[in-house]
Amino acid sequence: MDFMELINQAPDTEPDRQYYFIELSRKILREKEASLGRKLSFCVTTFGCQMNARDSEKIVGILKQVGFEESEDEHADFVIYNTCTVRENANNKVYGRLGILQSYKKKNPEMMIALCGCMMQEPTVVETLQKSYKFVDLIFGTHNIYKFAELLFNTLNKDKGMLIDIWKDTDKIVENLPIERKYSFKSGVNIMFGCNNFCTYCIVPYVRGRERSRKSEDIIEEITNLVADGVVEVMLLGQNVNSYGKGLEESITFAQLLERICKIDGLKRVRFMTSHPKDLSDELIEVMAKEPKICNHMHLPLQSGSDALLQKMNRHYTKADYLLIVDKLKSKIPDIALTTDIIVGFPGETEEDFLETMDVVSKVKYDSAFTFIYSKRTGTPAALMDNQIEEDVVKDRFDRLLELVQTVGREKTGKYEGTVQEVLIEEVNEQDSTLVTGKMANNTTVHLPGDSSMIGKMYQVKLICCKGFYYIGEII
Ligand code: SAH
Ligand code: SF4
Ligand code: F3S
Repeated sequence: MDFMELINQAPDTEPDRQYYFIELSRKILREKEASLGRKLSFCVTTFGCQMNARDSEKIVGILKQVGFEESEDEHADFVIYNTCTVRENANNKVYGRLGILQSYKKKNPEMMIALCGCMMQEPTVVETLQKSYKFVDLIFGTHNIYKFAELLFNTLNKDKGMLIDIWKDTDKIVENLPIERKYSFKSGVNIMFGCNNFCTYCIVPYVRGRERSRKSEDIIEEITNLVADGVVEVMLLGQNVNSYGKGLEESITFAQLLERICKIDGLKRVRFMTSHPKDLSDELIEVMAKEPKICNHMHLPLQSGSDALLQKMNRHYTKADYLLIVDKLKSKIPDIALTTDIIVGFPGETEEDFLETMDVVSKVKYDSAFTFIYSKRTGTPAALMDNQIEEDVVKDRFDRLLELVQTVGREKTGKYEGTVQEVLIEEVNEQDSTLVTGKMANNTTVHLPGDSSMIGKMYQVKLICCKGFYYIGEII
């Protein structure tokens, strides 16, 4: 049968259509392997956030079903970059590395290169790739990742040239495609996709599309299956998990979803990110306080402590609103760990604005914080704002903020020294193989003597000493 006939025979419904293309791709791959006398390998490199990490697991799942062998090395026969564009430097990294991939491809005629993820949703990026990176074989975006098997089949069948398939948006969620987890004992779980908040600095709503929630029954089913497969910890993923449920036929809030998830037998820990302060409900705080499975950690992006800037950022809360939420969290969940994201150098940021941010950091005493220098993203409202801040001023503020963040972080982390805490062991320590590394419920890292048989299990660990942001402990 020829190529077009095969495509015409594909089922119209999903995910059946993708399973059909997995089968066809598997056949093509087998033929290739036979003629080359060797297996073909793939390497997926992920940039950006946990959403992208989860998307990469979907791509890996399909490649493995097709029969490619996983490799950590970008000399592989099929290299895929799952890109991020949240800040300019994430973007530049990809162009730099593509140059290196081109030199690998010159040596390996079988090599295919694919690019996907958020950066591909920007038309100017695709134009640049078409003009100056002609050796790339496949480009697809965030909305059609579910049809990766079909795209793979088309790529395997094409002679030369670049296959590009980018959608502007979608309202579609395709369930039940293969996924290959990176960790056996923990997993990210998407509860929603996209974002409707349009913070004025942020490109995510443009590249990830409109917010849509998955049906609660699909989420519960996925987690139940994960637990049956050995998962003890899930991280619920969404750009703004607190608005989960909006637009669904069923009436359900994020807090209610959490309660249902906590009822799943065998599941031990539930985490989630990210919470937008404007939608954080008292109901959520109550559920967190009540449900022992929900980890005592909240990632609550502040972005800025200045009311004027928060308004310009379109964040829909004030410094006082934010501090009130933090007070509530601390009073209902006394040992809660708080982490945050902060942007320095947003257009128009004055020294006074910046000091408001510093003030919030001093008051909240975050366990840790991701601090970012504002990066101008073309197409966002902030890119057109007056008063972009000079580089040396931003750098100076950034350094001062980082120092404060580290000082309060160290104070916060240290307070558990000498206590016994439950630790989930995640991996053998990279530097010292006589140690294993795990996480407390509040997300603090603990290193302790052990071996790989402990991975994925929980232990009661005495925290012997605090080394800044992590502990050295031992099993009691
Ligand atoms: N949905 C999440 C954040 C996703 S992006 C939320 O609303 O909190 C992760 C972080 O990147 C943001 O919290 C923000 O601090 C940072 N960020 C986003 N756009 C940025 C930009 N243009 N420049 C610098 N940092 C940015
Ligand atoms: Fe970006 Fe704001 Fe959406 Fe977070 S909530 S992804 S910062 S627009
Ligand atoms: Fe980056 Fe896209 Fe995540 S822009 S931060 S990978 S949603």
